[in-house]
Amino acid sequence: MDKNSATKTQASSVAITDYFKQQSARVEQWLERLLPASNKAPVTIHEAMRYSIFAGGKRLRPALVIATGEVFDADEQALLPTACALEMIHTYSLIHDDLPAMDNDDLRRGRPTNHKVYGEAMAILAGDALLTQAFITLANLEGVSAETKVRVSAEVAQAAGTVNALIGGQVLDIQNEGRPVTAEELDAIHRAKTGALIRCCVRVGAMIGGASESELQLLTEYAEKSGLAFQIADDVLDATATSEELGKTAGKDEASQKATYVALYGIESARQRAEQLCQEAIEAVQKIGRETAQLEAIARFIVERKH
Ligand code: IPE
Ligand code: IPE
Ligand code: MG
Ligand code: MG
Ligand code: MG
Repeated sequence: MDKNSATKTQASSVAITDYFKQQSARVEQWLERLLPASNKAPVTIHEAMRYSIFAGGKRLRPALVIATGEVFDADEQALLPTACALEMIHTYSLIHDDLPAMDNDDLRRGRPTNHKVYGEAMAILAGDALLTQAFITLANLEGVSAETKVRVSAEVAQAAGTVNALIGGQVLDIQNEGRPVTAEELDAIHRAKTGALIRCCVRVGAMIGGASESELQLLTEYAEKSGLAFQIADDVLDATATSEELGKTAGKDEASQKATYVALYGIESARQRAEQLCQEAIEAVQKIGRETAQLEAIARFIVERKH
């Protein structure tokens, strides 16, 4: 990397760090309002939901909803609750992903996992409750037409489901532990378990903003490439970063014989694939011909992040 591009990368990562900070603060204010108070009965479930949601986290998915919506000057009254709904679903998926029956993890977002604190039964229910609260939030959306509300809700439900979607991907992830997978199978796992929700974030941001069909197509391409790059980076970080840096247990994938990019291609090739996808994502979004600097910076962040 020459000196100029190194300086440019540094400048853009500072700017994106500030962007994430600003958006996280907005998202957390809305989450505070959208989730039942921790003193509301039955208090344990509301405490458990809040424990994992307010444990930190990069808030990447909400940032994608907001950054995409902002390309089209979308109404914040609709955009912010939608961003929060996606974060609720993501957090539910983490709580369940960490359960003893799944990845069996003790550490998440720098804290003991939900089931370690509240027990398995309550962790399962907290996940279920966050998923449910996401759809309550979408049903109550203001600032969009009824038609857009239904379209957004259907998009989110599909992404959280079983066909080329989050739950389906988790099924494949679990079923392929300890088994050799082909390159195509690995792509399918990653696109589903992680890519689908990321794709959904961008698409619903665009729908709320009133993007045209051709813009939606280009944004979908951006999101699919960024989503796959995100999970490849997650695989690389699992193999290269420390538990302190990640806020979750490092080295778990190899120990559990997970089908990952690192296992199939090695660290260097995995990094290169993520970088390539990031470039392609940026090229796709630039074709829209609107102000997409924030989305481009998020794509860079996805592959350059350290946690
Ligand atoms: C972790 O997601 C789970 C994956 C889909 C790889 P993040 O890395 O976005 O986790 P948080 O939200 O920052 O904790
Ligand atoms: C998790 O993938 C994907 C979902 C939660 C849907 P991982 O199992 O790799 O996520 P981490 O590494 O535990 O965060
Ligand atoms: Mg997992
Ligand atoms: Mg896991
Ligand atoms: Mg992982």
